[in-house]
Amino acid sequence: MVMTELQFRDTAAAGYDQVVGRMTAQFIPPLLQAARIVPGHRVLDIAIGTGIAAEAAVVRVGPSGHVVATDISPALVERARERLGGLSAVALAVEDGQALTFQAERFDAVLCNQGLMYFPDPARGLAEFHRVLRPGGRAATSVPTTPERSLTGRVHASIARYAPSKAAEIRRIFSLGAEGHLRLLLEAAGLVEVEDAIEVVRMAFPSFDAYFNGVERGAGNVGQDYVALPEDARRAVREEARRDLGDAGGTGRDRGGGQDRQRTPLEHFPIMLDLAQRH
Ligand SMILES: C[S@@+](CC[C@H](N)C(=O)[O-])C[C@H]1O[C@@H](n2cnc3c(N)ncnc32)[C@H](O)[C@@H]1O
Repeated sequence: MVMTELQFRDTAAAGYDQVVGRMTAQFIPPLLQAARIVPGHRVLDIAIGTGIAAEAAVVRVGPSGHVVATDISPALVERARERLGGLSAVALAVEDGQALTFQAERFDAVLCNQGLMYFPDPARGLAEFHRVLRPGGRAATSVPTTPERSLTGRVHASIARYAPSKAAEIRRIFSLGAEGHLRLLLEAAGLVEVEDAIEVVRMAFPSFDAYFNGVERGAGNVGQDYVALPEDARRAVREEARRDLGDAGGTGRDRGGGQDRQRTPLEHFPIMLDLAQRH
């Protein structure tokens, strides 16, 4: 089977920051930490989406450093240009992470936040990360673990039941999340001193609609797959998601808890997700 690129098109870029970016942003600090980026570093960010990791890297490298921000999708590179275009320490380029056009050993650090699993051949991508890193440079990448612990993985799994032609692509999104797998791939690419960890974050939404609106507007690849479904399938996927998340339909302001029970601010929200990513 020919593996297609899971690049994000124009429509997927719209609304990205409110849905996907809100989640991916939470996993950027540990990724930058893992990459050990310091002032003066030359950093390559691969699969930038709207450029949030690159933006954080620019702060770390400071005025003496440089960040090259790349994505295979011209639409996303243009989106990222809106965020990063004014920064003199940043260059943007459309690049396939599996076939980078950069010289060998050009970068001190390579970042790839939530992008590697979209590559048809992640091993080839990692070999490229290794090639462009200087000796002693560090690559840091993160991938989702399981559909149950991702922002929209369960929605995507439900979409796959109504669009079997999409099922293989959707499975691929979680294909690198199993314990030990990413480490094996990194080592096979020639990277050494591999450290792996699972990061867990909690995200809360004030209502089911607040959670699902971005998907309905077509944001990210999950949104694109959703809006491509016929109307009855869309309705069914939406209802499955609502049930799956245990939405009671209210605003969540007064949900649960007795008077004697201490409630955290998060508990005021009806939709709470524990997300986990491997990096
Ligand atoms: C979920 S987004 C992650 C974006 C960003 N790193 C973030 O943290 O928000 C995945 C991105 O991978 C890009 N992508 C998919 N295949 C790619 C490839 N072969 N090379 C480079 N980018 C790719 C998509 O276009 C999309 O922008």
